[in-house]
Amino acid sequence: MKLVIGGSTGFVATEVLTQALKNPAITSIVALGRREATMSTAAGSNAGKLKSVICKDFENYPDSVKTELENADACIWTIAVTPRKLSTVPWEATCKISRDYAVTAIKTLDTLRPAQEQPLRFLYVSGHFAPRSRAEIPPALENHGLVDYGLLRGEVETLILSYAEQSHGRVESCVVKPGLIDAPGAEKRDIPGVPHVDLPDIAAALVDQVIRGFEKDTLSNDDLVRIGGRVLAE
Ligand SMILES: NC(=O)c1ccc[n+]([C@@H]2O[C@H](COP(=O)([O-])OP(=O)(O)OC[C@H]3O[C@@H](n4cnc5c(N)ncnc54)[C@H](OP(=O)(O)O)[C@@H]3O)[C@@H](O)[C@H]2O)c1
Repeated sequence: MKLVIGGSTGFVATEVLTQALKNPAITSIVALGRREATMSTAAGSNAGKLKSVICKDFENYPDSVKTELENADACIWTIAVTPRKLSTVPWEATCKISRDYAVTAIKTLDTLRPAQEQPLRFLYVSGHFAPRSRAEIPPALENHGLVDYGLLRGEVETLILSYAEQSHGRVESCVVKPGLIDAPGAEKRDIPGVPHVDLPDIAAALVDQVIRGFEKDTLSNDDLVRIGGRVLAE
């Protein structure tokens, strides 16, 4: 399986990359990012599976990047402006990075695999509070002044799922909605009402789902804890 990891330098993607390198079902990994991806020294002989591809324009991929993305079987997309960085990025850029880059990615990957019989599996990492309509806005988003941001992330979920629905079977997509992701050994943050998942567990769940196929089109934090726990126990 050829896997593309979008945003390969990030917190979640770095662990996904580590686990994907170890997984024999994944034979080729394109680490797509605006910077070079770093690989753990434990990668050993699996290091040859990885190609780090730097992209300067995520709305118009140059031909050199498109060549690397050809015939991908799956993608785990993690690029977004996270709530913590929201105050440092203008709103227009936040929409472009968090929404338009993801939509361009699913479309581009789809068009770059004309002869594939199996559908492209595109997994989009969203967040626990990302309402898909105004009726679903939880009080926590209002309390933290994150209504527009939450609705933006919910809009991306809808766009990614509807792209697959309208693809006549060429694409399967899945949205995952983690709460707070805890890194081993790091101090735990707590936000009332927001569940937690451990970084190794979510990474294991993401890798498992692109390999085995999506259980359903939306995976909650509880689903990620359950799937990741099962995979790591195996
Ligand atoms: N961390 C959590 O606790 C948590 C919880 C729930 C949901 N999530 C979601 O999980 C996903 C990944 O989160 P994360 O914590 O791994 O975030 P992160 O560490 O900030 O990584 C985000 C990735 O996006 C890239 N990126 C950001 N701005 C970009 C731009 N303008 N152009 C190109 N690439 C850009 C970053 O590149 P650089 O490395 O170059 O900055 C990085 O590779 C996000 O959708 C986030 O909302 C995270």
